[in-house]
Amino acid sequence: MKQPPAPQRPDDTATPDEVSKVHRPEEAGAVAVPEPVGHVAGPTLDDVRADDAVRLWIRQANQVTGAIGYTEHGERHASTCAEGAHFILRALGHDARRCEIAAVAGYLHDIGNGISRDRHGQTGALLAKDILRDLRFTPEEVVLIMAAIASHEEDEGGLPISAVSAAVIIADKSDVHRSRVRNSKSTAFDIHDRVNYAATKAEIKVGRREKLITLELSVDTEVAPIMEYFEIFLTRMISCRRSAEFLHCAFALVINGTRLL
Ligand SMILES: [Fe+2]
Ligand SMILES: [Fe+2]
Repeated sequence: MKQPPAPQRPDDTATPDEVSKVHRPEEAGAVAVPEPVGHVAGPTLDDVRADDAVRLWIRQANQVTGAIGYTEHGERHASTCAEGAHFILRALGHDARRCEIAAVAGYLHDIGNGISRDRHGQTGALLAKDILRDLRFTPEEVVLIMAAIASHEEDEGGLPISAVSAAVIIADKSDVHRSRVRNSKSTAFDIHDRVNYAATKAEIKVGRREKLITLELSVDTEVAPIMEYFEIFLTRMISCRRSAEFLHCAFALVINGTRLL
C-alpha cells in the first residue's frame, strides 16, 4: 500500500540567523527580515503619522530641542526610532501587532520635548494618551505605549518595563548620526555635536539564534576620538544592555570593526 506523503514542515532554511538594519529610515535594511506572524488589526503607525496633533508635537519637539542646543529630535529621529523598534521585535519573532505598537511608541517617544526637555518622557506619555485614544487604540495598547514613552530616558530613571519599551530604548539610544547635528559651524561643535557628526553609519543587528543585539557604528576618529563617544554614551549603552537583557539577548557594541562591549 502506498504511504501518504510525510507532512510538510515549514522550510525555515531561508531564514537568516542574523538580520540587520541600517539605522536610518531612508536606507533599507541590509538583510530581509521575515514578516511578523499575526495581524496588525487596529490603528497603525501610518494613522499616527498622519494625525495633525502628532505632526504639531513632533515639529514642536524639534523646535524646542533646537532652541536649547540639542541635536535633531524631529520627524527623522521619530521615524528612525519607530523603524528600529519595529525591526528589533520583528527580528526576534514577536507578533505583528506588538511590532506595530513598538513602532508607534518609538515614533512618539520624544513628543514631550515639545513642552520641555525636563521630564519629557513623562509629559510625552501624558500627551500621547488623548492622541492614542482618539485614534482608537485599545486601552491596553494606550497603557503599553504610554509606559514605554515614560520609561525611555535613562537620565529620568527610565528602565525597560516591557518588550515594547526595551525595543524603543535600544532604537533611541543607538540613533547617533551625522545628520542629527544642526550646528553649521564645526568650530562651534560641542561634544554631542562632535560625536554625532563623527558617526557616519549606525546599524542594528539582531542574531535571533545567537540571542545577540549588536550596534555597529562607523566613527570618523578624525572628528571625535572613541573616548568622547564613551564619555557621553556609556550610560546609553548600559540602557541598551539592560534592554537587550529584557529581550533575553546580550548586547554588543562594535565601533569601526572592533567589539568594545
Ligand atoms: Fe528622549
Ligand atoms: Fe529620542
